[in-house]
Amino acid sequence: MLILAIESSCDDTAAAVLDLNRDHHPDHTSRVLSNVVSSQFDVHARFGGIVPELASRCHIEAIWPVVHQALTDAGVSLEDIDLVAATQGPGLVGSLLVGFTFAKAVALVQQIPCTGVDHLAGHLLAILLEKEKERPEFPYTALVVSGGNTSLFAVESPTEFRLLGRTRDDAAGEAFDKVAKVLELGYPGGPTVSRLAEQGNADAIPFPRAWLDKESVDFSFSGLKTSVANYVNQCRQKNIPVPTENICASFEQAVVDVLVKKTLDAAKQTGHQRVVIGGGVAANKQLRQQLKTGCAKAGFHCFTPSPEYCTDNAAMIGLAGYFQFVAGSAGSTVGPDTDAFSRSPLN
Ligand code: KG4
Repeated sequence: MLILAIESSCDDTAAAVLDLNRDHHPDHTSRVLSNVVSSQFDVHARFGGIVPELASRCHIEAIWPVVHQALTDAGVSLEDIDLVAATQGPGLVGSLLVGFTFAKAVALVQQIPCTGVDHLAGHLLAILLEKEKERPEFPYTALVVSGGNTSLFAVESPTEFRLLGRTRDDAAGEAFDKVAKVLELGYPGGPTVSRLAEQGNADAIPFPRAWLDKESVDFSFSGLKTSVANYVNQCRQKNIPVPTENICASFEQAVVDVLVKKTLDAAKQTGHQRVVIGGGVAANKQLRQQLKTGCAKAGFHCFTPSPEYCTDNAAMIGLAGYFQFVAGSAGSTVGPDTDAFSRSPLN
């Protein structure tokens, strides 16, 4: 089955072609035939964050060139495609509508089915795009940690996800981006904060960790974000140099401590042997390393997708769409009048 997948939930226009019909255990290269991402960083950078209206307009300009590139890289044409899968939500509605409407139009013209995919399902299953030895079996406990979400799920099968905990305020990626903004490091902040953190001392500043209730695997990052902002403002008011590297390192460690501890707690609650991460912040080196160490100590197997499958991409949407379509689960095919959604029913 050849799948054309489209992702446009935020500030990346992405398209991929997947072949999921060659055999039952296809290797990496036979599954993802192409994976194209066009980012809008340059457009939003000068505003220090995503401007939704600009994002939608950029998606409109990029959607056909990106899809065309994905088809060309895969060596196929629209006539070869059997199923279209597109992110239906959650995300910025204006952005979602561009990719989702494009997908429905392709399906209508080509007379093929279209499936609407939950972006979170994509992140939860992205690890399955890896080589066979690097893929977990079901069930597993998964942390989705990105600019818009920080949630823990029990993943029972490719179509069954149970929410265990979620952020009560900011997502971890959002906290990285806001800290970067306060430090005037540009957008998106995560990669820059993380790079500067390598030159700093993670114990230099005791930023708070929000553990919440003892049993809870919910998160909260807004207090940490405010604490960093206050620290920076105090330095500026007192006219003393802002210790950027130490702030980045101490902030990053505060985020990682909470993400690792709560993920391990969640795995203990579910009794799963396998722990998975996904989402843009899952590309963070410290998080990957410290989660691996924590899992090894606690006796869990830890699975981390390669960075290209952590950040937003269409390959993960194609895979999630394939499973949903094959399972024939509710909403597995959509009609021309089906709408996008801004909030995930999974979350
Ligand atoms: O999953 P993603 O591409 O988009 C969504 O938010 O859905 O994640 C983007 C987020 C941004 O907040 C970005 O700052 C963060 O992931 N990020 C990182 C790193 N790379 C991306 N945060 C920390 N460390 C990184 N290396």
